[in-house]
Amino acid sequence: MTDALLHGFSLPSKSETDFINIVSAKDCTLVDDQGKQYLDAMASLWLCQIGHGNSKVVNAIKDQLDRLQTYNTFDPFTNTPASQAAEAVRRVSPHPNGRVFLGCSGSEAVDSALKLSRMFHQRRGDSDRQIIVRRNAGYHGVNVGGTSVQGIEPNRVGWGDLLPHVIEIPNDDIEEAATLFAEHGSRIAAVICEPVQGAGGVIVPPDGYLPGLRRLCDQHGSLLIFDEVICGFGRTGQWFASQTFDVTPDMITFAKGVTSGYLPLSGVIISEALNDELVSDEAAKLMHGYTYSGHPTAAAAAIANLEVIESENLVGEARRIGDEMHAGFSALLGDEIINSFRGIGGIWACEIGKDAIPARDMMISNGVVCRGIGEALAFCPPLIITDDEIGQIFDTLSDVLRGS
Ligand SMILES: Cc1ncc(COP(=O)(O)O)c(C=O)c1O
Repeated sequence: MTDALLHGFSLPSKSETDFINIVSAKDCTLVDDQGKQYLDAMASLWLCQIGHGNSKVVNAIKDQLDRLQTYNTFDPFTNTPASQAAEAVRRVSPHPNGRVFLGCSGSEAVDSALKLSRMFHQRRGDSDRQIIVRRNAGYHGVNVGGTSVQGIEPNRVGWGDLLPHVIEIPNDDIEEAATLFAEHGSRIAAVICEPVQGAGGVIVPPDGYLPGLRRLCDQHGSLLIFDEVICGFGRTGQWFASQTFDVTPDMITFAKGVTSGYLPLSGVIISEALNDELVSDEAAKLMHGYTYSGHPTAAAAAIANLEVIESENLVGEARRIGDEMHAGFSALLGDEIINSFRGIGGIWACEIGKDAIPARDMMISNGVVCRGIGEALAFCPPLIITDDEIGQIFDTLSDVLRGS
């Protein structure tokens, strides 16, 4: 193996031969270059809702490649897959009459939403409104905007100056948010918030927290951005977590599950009201866009993937998975094998009371891929996972935690 590849979120000094080389995958099962099988209880990185190797999506991609592989959507061009993918996304979102901007990665979606939130205030003549409010433990990708507004400090340090005008609030205390708004409300452009924080450790908001943020933003003229890069497309038991928690943000960022990761695609859904502002000035051009915004092959993957999520009722399946995971963790807690657990639908974590990385490594060597975050192990399986496979997660977890 060559050492040319520089891996993200990894030690650059680690040899390429020490990584697990995944060579194929089907449904929830991964296979490495030694022929060893793993249950993918993380859906890669919180993303593969429909499981691996779904022929409907694979064939849709192949068909699109045969017709039009790539073209841009900057004025004067468009393409049908891009337009249909945007329609398919907004139709299931809380903004069925909104608009959908497309990009490739969650990080692009986040930076787009941050720029858009400031742009709306600038266009309204409110140019002092530049503050973005972030939450501790929030993760919003690694572009400069997303790095600046994430609440995981180790990801923010070491890069020199990041964006100014960013203020952090606790992720669970609406009173602290209210205090911040009382002081700075007239200068707050937006709050960015994962409805359920993923990379920060699967943190479900306390009751009333998300409605509280909505209320504060309404009272002070600020925009609410939900980053649903992980939460979207069924993960929390509804198409979007905005629907699960019954709070409608002004913008939603999405990525990952929109194509189940078969091809990179992301985007920002903006509300109908924001879109009305955009189109009201016919001469005001949107000076933002990526070469691959509306990439037709990625868009074809999204359309087919959303059809699979719908036809296989994977949004409902997330609720079944939630019940099974809750039961499994409850049993481990009853046996005092874990200290606590949390989650909803298809996204869960348990606290094990010690550094989770050795336990994660043992889980992987026993054939179950999960993620270690601090002292927590996180699970976010494909939404096609069977009850037997969920049983395998808990049998392995029990063995590993009893033995370690
Ligand atoms: C909530 C959230 N936002 C943004 C991102 C960044 O997405 P990407 O890695 O595709 O840039 C992630 C990635 O995990 C995420 O979980």
